[in-house]
Amino acid sequence: MKNIVILISGTGSNMAAIVQAQRQQQWRERHQAEVVAVISNRADAAGLQKAQEAGLATQVVEHKSFPTREAFDAELARAVQAYDPALVVLAGFMRVLTPVFVQPFERRLINIHPSLLPAFPGLHTHQRALDAGCRFTGATVHWVTPELDAGPIIDQVAVPILPGDTAQSLTARVQTQEYLLYPRAILQALQKITA
Ligand code: GRF
Repeated sequence: MKNIVILISGTGSNMAAIVQAQRQQQWRERHQAEVVAVISNRADAAGLQKAQEAGLATQVVEHKSFPTREAFDAELARAVQAYDPALVVLAGFMRVLTPVFVQPFERRLINIHPSLLPAFPGLHTHQRALDAGCRFTGATVHWVTPELDAGPIIDQVAVPILPGDTAQSLTARVQTQEYLLYPRAILQALQKITA
């Protein structure tokens, strides 16, 4: 069985969509893959409760308890490794990871980013797309490398920007597409890993 560990920081709506897709598409039976744990860097992440309700193991590694990014990353790596993951999925995980975490999980670590990368890496992507006058934005799932939001692209979805859109309305429209994109991209990533 290929274990999947999901890292979150907040509402965990992508995580919930992945878990729902896994159930509906019978990943366990058809792909020998399953989400086994959800880990958050914040104890107050609403997604933790959603994960518990879905019957998943949850864990908190609070970044605030560590003096440096590297010390946090080392502990996070230990926590993740305990689940022997084939794939580690960042789903709204809002910490920049150092090579201390990225290197041991490279080529089995993926992220979802709310823009059509390589456009708009970093934060406030929807506002930046609006300010630039883009007609389309979207979301990208990519392999994580030490450089922020710069790893090889696995899959993307394009979303039109409509007259009157705000960062808020775009967030909502892009997220509905993220919920379809991420489960699909996870299966693509697993195929690459086992190929
Ligand atoms: C998503 O929009 C994702 O693209 C970005 O953070 C958001 C996470 O939302 N990286 P949620 O925690 O999955 O609800």
